[in-house]
Amino acid sequence: MVRHYKFSVVMKNTTRLCATKPIVTVNGRFPGPKLYAREDDTVIVRVINHVTYNVTLHWHGVKQLRTGWSDGPAYVTQCPIQPGQSYIYNFTLSGQRGTLLWHAHISWLRATMYGAIVILPKRGVPYPFPKPDREVVVILGEWWKADVEAVINQAIQSGLPPNISDAHTINGHPGPTSTCSSQGYTLNVESGKTYMLRIVNAAVNDELFFKISGHQLTVVEVDAIYAKPFKTDTLFIAPGQTTNALLTADQGAGKYLVVVSPFMDAPIPVDNITGTAILSYTGTLAASPTVLTTSPSQNATQLTSSFMDSLKSLNSKQYPANVPLAIDHSLLFTIGVGVNPCSTCVNGSRLVSYINNVTFVMPTTGLLEAHYYNIGGVFTVDFPGNPLIAFNYTGTQPSNMQTMNGTRLYRLAYNSTVQVVIQGTAMISPESHPTHLHGFDFYAVGRGLGNFDPVNDPKKFNLIDPIARNTIGVPSGGWTAIRFRADNPGVWLLHCHLEVHTTWGLKMAFLVENGKGPNESLVPPPSDLPKC
Ligand code: C2O
Repeated sequence: MVRHYKFSVVMKNTTRLCATKPIVTVNGRFPGPKLYAREDDTVIVRVINHVTYNVTLHWHGVKQLRTGWSDGPAYVTQCPIQPGQSYIYNFTLSGQRGTLLWHAHISWLRATMYGAIVILPKRGVPYPFPKPDREVVVILGEWWKADVEAVINQAIQSGLPPNISDAHTINGHPGPTSTCSSQGYTLNVESGKTYMLRIVNAAVNDELFFKISGHQLTVVEVDAIYAKPFKTDTLFIAPGQTTNALLTADQGAGKYLVVVSPFMDAPIPVDNITGTAILSYTGTLAASPTVLTTSPSQNATQLTSSFMDSLKSLNSKQYPANVPLAIDHSLLFTIGVGVNPCSTCVNGSRLVSYINNVTFVMPTTGLLEAHYYNIGGVFTVDFPGNPLIAFNYTGTQPSNMQTMNGTRLYRLAYNSTVQVVIQGTAMISPESHPTHLHGFDFYAVGRGLGNFDPVNDPKKFNLIDPIARNTIGVPSGGWTAIRFRADNPGVWLLHCHLEVHTTWGLKMAFLVENGKGPNESLVPPPSDLPKC
């Protein structure tokens, strides 16, 4: 089936935290419209830009098999849709079902332009867990009182970190416990029923904990991949990630507080603003929540580790895990934040981010276009497969934390297999990096704290039933190993999904060549592909 959507990008005055400001929205809605489809459907979204900003939209986690032109990152797979212009995104959800998200993929517009993608299984195919009575989308975000584009532009000019957000939101609202609050979101439940929460983290810069007082949650899916069910009272979700969790309304009655709070692997709390909502049993008269809960401490690293360790793929006959066992490209990426000189900046230097000591510089032509038409001078294909400067994170901080600029891609032959060990260096301060790969789901085969040990750590990899996902947290001063098969020709961005780090250059792209078979090539660009 083909699903048609019209997304008009328009400004909309929106009030939060007692102040009203114009924000960039899709169809005047915040959060944006939900996109519903079924596995294998084709989705056609016509995006019309009625604002003065350049825009693009990204369908986060949609593989875009051979349809890279619809992926969305600005200057990677397309030039932006300019004011007054339109573009049609056209893609097929082949073999994908679950919850994903769409968001703007240019500058920081995704702060207000985001929404859920709900992909139901094919008709007649049940979930691999008991069917819930109802499904509910819960999308988490951040809110700044100031204009968000001004926040990031000022940070870029000064070379300093941007201001943190003023609120965390649940379905667009800071919630009932915030001072100066709108009412907040209420999840109404009936005693005895089971609900599937499709929880999406669309926050800009924060990994989040999610908790409902008095209730346990059973995780059944992450990033549109079924997981072996496990119970927990706290979910850990990084920006770009999604979690489907079953909630049984087994407490009879009452109002329960729902809390969202940031995780940061830093001892000093820098951001402890909690977003709240209410779970309310039908017939409860109390106006405010009667059962409260506290959020985990900001640096509850242990909790994040055990949550991630609990995630396994089903690896059933119907949903097998196909982890690549023979690896063609074994790569080690160090990622982190560094400092480059900047004469116009406040401290004479600016914060930058890097992968293997390369700070990615955005081109002014779309990379995919440059690749397809063989346009020279836009990028090079010499992205280093190993760090240019050997790094030992437990050692003393290096005195030179400068990075080199480049628009460098790493070339992969069609169908080659790739392992990337992503090592967080945390040179300046503790930082987690939820890393997102476009165009693929990858298997998360291993993770650990400290330096990756190339001799002993691979022996402990889970090659049987690791979870597959599209975004994975790299622990501060630790590492994560992922594996995937390069079976999707195109140019695919890999980046930290904390927008501040992406802005500073924590990104690179893989160039996957066409295969020789009949259905192994990138399709030609659509005729309305925007021009730069
Ligand atoms: Cu959800 Cu490149 O982004």
